[in-house]
Formats: sequence, structure tokens, C-alpha cells
Amino acid sequence: MIHGGSKLQKNESKSNNAIIVMQNVGIRYGQGPEVLSDISLSLPRGSFHFLTGRSGAGKTSLLSMMYLAQKPSRGIVQVFGRNINFTNRDNLSLLRRKIGVVFQDFRLLEHLSAFDNVALPLRICGMNEREVKKRVTELLQWVELDRNMYAKTSTLSGGEKQRTAIARAVINRPDLLLADEPTGNVDNDIAPKLMKLFVELNKLGTTVVIATHSEKLITDFAFPRLHLQNHGLKVYEPYDFTGINIGNRVEKGERR
Ligand SMILES: Nc1ncnc2c1ncn2[C@@H]1O[C@H](COP(=O)(O)OP(=O)(O)OP(=O)(O)O)[C@@H](O)[C@H]1O
Ligand SMILES: [Mg+2]
Repeated sequence: MIHGGSKLQKNESKSNNAIIVMQNVGIRYGQGPEVLSDISLSLPRGSFHFLTGRSGAGKTSLLSMMYLAQKPSRGIVQVFGRNINFTNRDNLSLLRRKIGVVFQDFRLLEHLSAFDNVALPLRICGMNEREVKKRVTELLQWVELDRNMYAKTSTLSGGEKQRTAIARAVINRPDLLLADEPTGNVDNDIAPKLMKLFVELNKLGTTVVIATHSEKLITDFAFPRLHLQNHGLKVYEPYDFTGINIGNRVEKGERR
């Protein structure tokens, strides 16, 4: 069994060690009710967390603040020590370069090949083409896309697109990896292999958050879990939901 890098600590906002800090965060769309309320969390550098909750619980909304696409309606969000409410657009895009994101809807450049989508973050950094080709080819072979890496992304299946999106997110060894249902479209046999990729990246120092509905992944990989429920957040350590030590650590804890 693989264990998470570190435990999530409450009230760690002053620590330089935290990659993401949220304090009493609320998010709403337009004039609607709050989708998430009073979210407070602190994710230490090098940690690995699952993000769970029913469909509509707010997983994508929470991740969108973490990848700096959305500001909170209230409260404080700090990413890499910067309060995103007071960070201008240029600095936000610089911070974004340190974040790899696997979007739930992939967001690939469909007119480009899988190879060119994955190469993009490396080319933006000015890497020479020989090195780009080596790294991209190697990674696409790992995610079993070697046969169609030069096909236009628009012609790929959902699972192939998802693997392309994962490769694009991890190719640059980001400081922070945020993956929204990254194994939702792939076969059961490749899902653990993709998880292994995230775990390897985490071992190299990347802080990882993975939104998932997969109970199998959650139980197979014993990382702490951020669980969204009734607009709020509860944190479960692995032993809270494997049944070893469920009980007084989590108030009103729900075991699924
Ligand atoms: N752009 C938006 N405009 C209005 N409401 C939105 C928007 N995005 C999300 N919502 C609402 O916010 C709530 C949370 O949505 P979100 O996509 O964050 O949930 P989720 O947990 O990711 O769900 P799923 O598991 O289905 O992906 C939902 O009720 C949704 O309708
Ligand atoms: Mg979602």
C-alpha cells in the first residue's frame, strides 16, 4: 500500500510549507446560493489528497480556485503563498505555469495532435525540439498512446483524449497537479497505471489533488481525502474510511 506524503493540518495558514491555503472560502455563481461555504484547508507541499463528493458537490468549483481560474466570492485563497484576490493577471499566469491541470472536459487543442498538445508546455518554456521529442514520445508510450500520437486530437476516443490531457498536465513536472476525474473515461486496467504516474510525480515533490468518484482508487491508494458534503468540507485520513479507526476523529463522519 502506498501512503500519502503528509497529513493535512488545520490552521497552518502561516506556514510557508503550505502550497494551498483557504480560509472561510465561499463560492457562488451569479446571484445563486453558495455552492461551497466556509471552506478552510491547508495543503502542505508534497502532499497527496483525493477530492470526493457527490456529483454537484463542488469538486470542480474548488479545483477551479486552486488552478486560479476563479476567485472566491468570499474568504481568502492563497496559492504558492499569494492571495489570489490581490494577484494581477500577469502574475496569475506566471503562477499557472507551475500548475498542471487535467480538466474534467479535457480542454485539448483539438486541431493539434496528441504529440503537439503534450509538447506545448515544454515548447512554451523554450525547450529544444530534440529534447521535446524524446520526453513527449516517452510519456505518450507510457500512457499507451504511441500508436496514435500524431493523430489529430479530435479523432481520438474519450479515454485517449483523457490520457493525452494527463500527459500534458504532468510533462513539465509541475509543482502542483490538479486532476479532475482523471480516470473517469479509461479502462479499469489502465487507471492504476495512471495513478502510478501521479504517485511517481508526487515522490518527485509535486503536490497532488485528484477529484474522483472511484472508491477503488481511494481504497487502493491510501491518501487522505477531502470530502465535500452539504456545501462544506470534511477531511478523512485513510484509516477513517478503511474501517481501521473510524469514529471520534471525524465528527459526524460518513463512511461510504
Ligand atoms: N459556471 C457555473 N454557473 C452556474 N452554476 C455552476 C457553474 N459551475 C458549477 N455550477 C453549479 O455549482 C455546483 C457544483 O458544481 P461542480 O461542477 O463544482 O460540481 P462537481 O462536484 O464537480 O460535480 P461532478 O462530479 O458532476 O463533476 C452545481 O450545482 C453546479 O450546477
Ligand atoms: Mg466536476
